[in-house]
Amino acid sequence: MTRRKYVVGNWKMNGLIAALDEAKAIFAAAEAHSSVDVALCPPFTLIGAMVAAVPGAAVGGQDCHASASGAFTGSVAAPMLADAGAHLVIVGHSERREGFGESDTDVRAKAEAALAAGLSVILCVGEPRAVRESGGAIPYVLAQVAGSLPGEFDPARLAVAYEPIWAIGTGLVPTVADVADMHGAIRAKLNEQAGSEAASVMRLLYGGSVNGDNAAELLGAGDVDGALVGGASLTAAKFVPIVEAAASL
Ligand code: PGA
Repeated sequence: MTRRKYVVGNWKMNGLIAALDEAKAIFAAAEAHSSVDVALCPPFTLIGAMVAAVPGAAVGGQDCHASASGAFTGSVAAPMLADAGAHLVIVGHSERREGFGESDTDVRAKAEAALAAGLSVILCVGEPRAVRESGGAIPYVLAQVAGSLPGEFDPARLAVAYEPIWAIGTGLVPTVADVADMHGAIRAKLNEQAGSEAASVMRLLYGGSVNGDNAAELLGAGDVDGALVGGASLTAAKFVPIVEAAASL
């Protein structure tokens, strides 16, 4: 099974209308690399404008509510993202799990809501530093996978992003061997939980301080199908080299 490379930018709480020029430059450069799927997840406020600025581009949300509508002040539902032109949504990012107290059960409900709305999903998992240092990273992450994975799903529309919390925004990255071990363990867990056919289709992304200098090495690790990129996705100058690295593999 050959899985297409997938490079996704997570703009987090960054980006005003002026940043659409970066998005245009990123998607224009990505066209030269047809072996790589490229997506950007800007703040909710920019989704409609980005879709309008770059028609057909894979634009996504960074979170969604588990309900399709209702009295949830400040939240955005998956059908609203789809209606705004989004193709995908990130769920379970550690900044949501930690900062907003989201549990595996919450993340699973969000993933199911997103899939039901026709979106693709990037489901994030990853261990805190203390867990990595105690040697318990793999069981910790596999428990997150087991608890957050939807019951039934189209494997082509569900990617898992392994993002060690201590590597996010810090400039620290795990060794390539540790990334390969974790991704291999996640793939084996998906095999067990979703079946071998689904597990062979699902893409596993690495996230945490990916940049143009380390992307080729990290994306070349075993069972890594792409990257979820934060800081280095905000400008074409930093993000395009990551897309190029993915294309070179
Ligand atoms: P970073 O963020 O690339 O800035 O480390 C990654 C993420 O949080 O998805």
